[in-house]
Amino acid sequence: MTLTQPYSKAGDSVNLFKRMAEDVHAVFEQDPAARTVFEVLMCHWSLWAIWAHHVNHWLWRHGLYFTSRFIAQWVRLFTGIEIHPGAVLGRRVFIDHGMGVVIGETAVVGDDVVIYQGVTLGGTGKEKGKRHPTLGQGVVVGAGAKILGNIAIGDHCRVGAGSVVLRDIPSDSTVVGVPGHIVLRDGKRVVITDPKQINDPLSDVIAALSDQISDVKRYLHQYGSGSGGTGVELEMPLCLKAFTSDCDETERSEDSADDSETGL
Ligand SMILES: CC(C)(COP(=O)(O)OP(=O)(O)OC[C@H]1O[C@@H](n2cnc3c(N)ncnc32)[C@H](O)[C@@H]1OP(=O)(O)O)[C@@H](O)C(=O)NCCC(=O)NCCS
Repeated sequence: MTLTQPYSKAGDSVNLFKRMAEDVHAVFEQDPAARTVFEVLMCHWSLWAIWAHHVNHWLWRHGLYFTSRFIAQWVRLFTGIEIHPGAVLGRRVFIDHGMGVVIGETAVVGDDVVIYQGVTLGGTGKEKGKRHPTLGQGVVVGAGAKILGNIAIGDHCRVGAGSVVLRDIPSDSTVVGVPGHIVLRDGKRVVITDPKQINDPLSDVIAALSDQISDVKRYLHQYGSGSGGTGVELEMPLCLKAFTSDCDETERSEDSADDSETGL
């Protein structure tokens, strides 16, 4: 999935102070707990982490790799937010609480994105080059969510707290769970009918169970109404065979227990 430019172009000549004022304003927009500008400047350390990142990113782009990384580590010490100097952040990005946020080297974060504490925009550990996610505009990433790999999260998506997202997500979707799956798209509920859509190791088991239940239903339907109108005799499904042999075994052991009680 390709996203339209998710962040204002680096060449946008926005006055530095205007940009900082926008960032402060974004805190008031997103955080009902924010009261005064003084308090925001003193207590929302994520603002300082973002402003330090802008300096770091400039240093990184000018080849000062060590210096920028070193500063980023100090910023992490004070704020708990680790933003790699190579990451590209859009305007008015708001990191709430912040502790434990990690943003990887090739991540791209769109304008007006909100990120809560404990979020990782990371790699899967097996890719090279662009290996971190791209977040579109206005994306909200819930506390503790992990978005991994070179994937794209479309504009105005919402990622549920604690989700692990490994695949592209189209715009205006809400994704939750581990692994993340879409539950709302354009405001409408998305109902998963095929367990494979979740792409979870357990889905194979659920899919197999669902197939077995369908077989049993078909067999019982035929059992209750002759050939079920198809004229074809269905063979007893394997799971039912196993179940009936288990039952026979239980009955046999119960019978022998009864026999030993009565001394026969
Ligand atoms: C994902 C989120 C944005 C969805 O909000 P919403 O649009 O109001 O959607 P709903 O609450 O109606 O949830 C839709 C479905 O997803 C499920 N869901 C929502 N959030 C979930 C989550 N984090 N993990 C797993 N399932 C979740 C709901 O149970 C619901 O399922 P159901 O319809 O089968 O009952 C919200 O739940 C969320 O996680 N926000 C993050 C907030 C956060 O991190 N705050 C930290 C403050 S410090």
